[in-house]
Amino acid sequence: MSELSPQPRGAARRRFLQTLGVAGVAPAASAAQAPAKLKVGLVGCGGRGSHLARRAKALGDGGYPVEVTAVADIYQPRLERLSVALGAKAYPTLEAMLRDAAPDGVIIATPDRLHVHHALAAVRAGKDVYCEKPLTHWAQFDLLKQLVAEARQRKTVFQVGAQWVSDPIWTQAAQEIQKGAIGKVLHAQTGYFRRGDSGERGMPVDDPKAQPGRGLDWDAFQADAPRREFAVSRFFQWRMYLDYSGGPITDLYPHPLTQILKALGPPRMPSRVVAVGGRYLYNGERDVPDTSDLLIEYPDGPSVAVLGTVGNSTGMDAVIRGSEGTLTFDQSFGGIVLRSMPGAKGANRVLNSQRFEDNHLRDWLECIRTRQAPVGDLELGYAVQVPLIMAMRSLLERKVAVWDAEREEIRMV
Ligand SMILES: NC(=O)c1ccc[n+]([C@@H]2O[C@H](COP(=O)([O-])OP(=O)(O)OC[C@H]3O[C@@H](n4cnc5c(N)ncnc54)[C@H](O)[C@@H]3O)[C@@H](O)[C@H]2O)c1
Repeated sequence: MSELSPQPRGAARRRFLQTLGVAGVAPAASAAQAPAKLKVGLVGCGGRGSHLARRAKALGDGGYPVEVTAVADIYQPRLERLSVALGAKAYPTLEAMLRDAAPDGVIIATPDRLHVHHALAAVRAGKDVYCEKPLTHWAQFDLLKQLVAEARQRKTVFQVGAQWVSDPIWTQAAQEIQKGAIGKVLHAQTGYFRRGDSGERGMPVDDPKAQPGRGLDWDAFQADAPRREFAVSRFFQWRMYLDYSGGPITDLYPHPLTQILKALGPPRMPSRVVAVGGRYLYNGERDVPDTSDLLIEYPDGPSVAVLGTVGNSTGMDAVIRGSEGTLTFDQSFGGIVLRSMPGAKGANRVLNSQRFEDNHLRDWLECIRTRQAPVGDLELGYAVQVPLIMAMRSLLERKVAVWDAEREEIRMV
């Protein structure tokens, strides 16, 4: 575990802290300090990490001042493959990379359970962070709070990798709602519908004979998860297991929920969350649910429903209902329609969706320079992750999750 949450040590740390005059606080760089070309390191060289690192490299090749200089992974074959493909230095752990490569920012694309450990290590080393969704595993609420506190203190530029929110229409939707375009917001619905087990059982198994040991650090993979015997499926197809994943609620719902909460304005916490669902279609070895519906209640409204299954791909429009009008993300053309209620003031309007490929990564890189908050910053990520953790607990414990705003705690009743 020490590997996962290192503190900067020794004389260098003391010197650094003295210059700040604040014990234990290593802030990320200031705008004036931003280098001409940003150095980015990646931890987690699997499917998503490889994609993000290649996109960052493509930005650099296209003239944007960024370079992927370092990659880290506890599984040697993937590490080597990506390191060679990108011409980036390879490290067996994030900690080794932070010590040696001195990146400006770190992209975290490890399995869910590792995100918060890697994010804390990067934040403590004074690095800016792009962390894949979900912000944490569903059983890591205390670590989530710790991460939020430390990143706030260090003013880390933190982007949560829920990139759907980088379509500018969600920021425009927030502006419209703020201006009163649909009146008082009462109700919202969104969801995620997919057909197939491809994201879980379908995850690629690079080597069916893989064994823990040199080149595959099973202990580092498990982090603070319950200790289990190594199994090829647990390592390569970790999304099938509650020890490492939450299924659709934490894997898929962060995308639509981040969009809806962006539109609803400044991030805030729910009052109650209830979730139902289960393994209606995919049983056997997989233990994460395949179908789950969430109701999230905010104090004085709105009520937000997040629905979905991975057994059927018939989707639904995301809708925000207000006292004066309705905002609909219309799937048929991929844009937002604003409609007034009969008799209400206000015009009907359309907001056209825009391409968002690369926007999210680029937004983070820009914000590293300007020290502004990215579009999917940690405050929004926290407001997304708390109801998702409450939903997981509600579904698994068959109870209602209540948010204790004073203590910032979850109570199950
Ligand atoms: N935003 C999106 O659209 C999107 C899409 C896919 C995946 N993701 C997210 O990206 C993350 C990774 O998903 P994936 O499908 O790429 O998984 P993956 O299993 O393909 O890749 C994870 C990699 O992390 C490595 N790893 C495990 N423990 C490690 C440790 N302690 N230190 C360093 N490396 C470690 C593994 O060896 C593996 O190479 C997940 O959290 C997932 O939710 C996001």
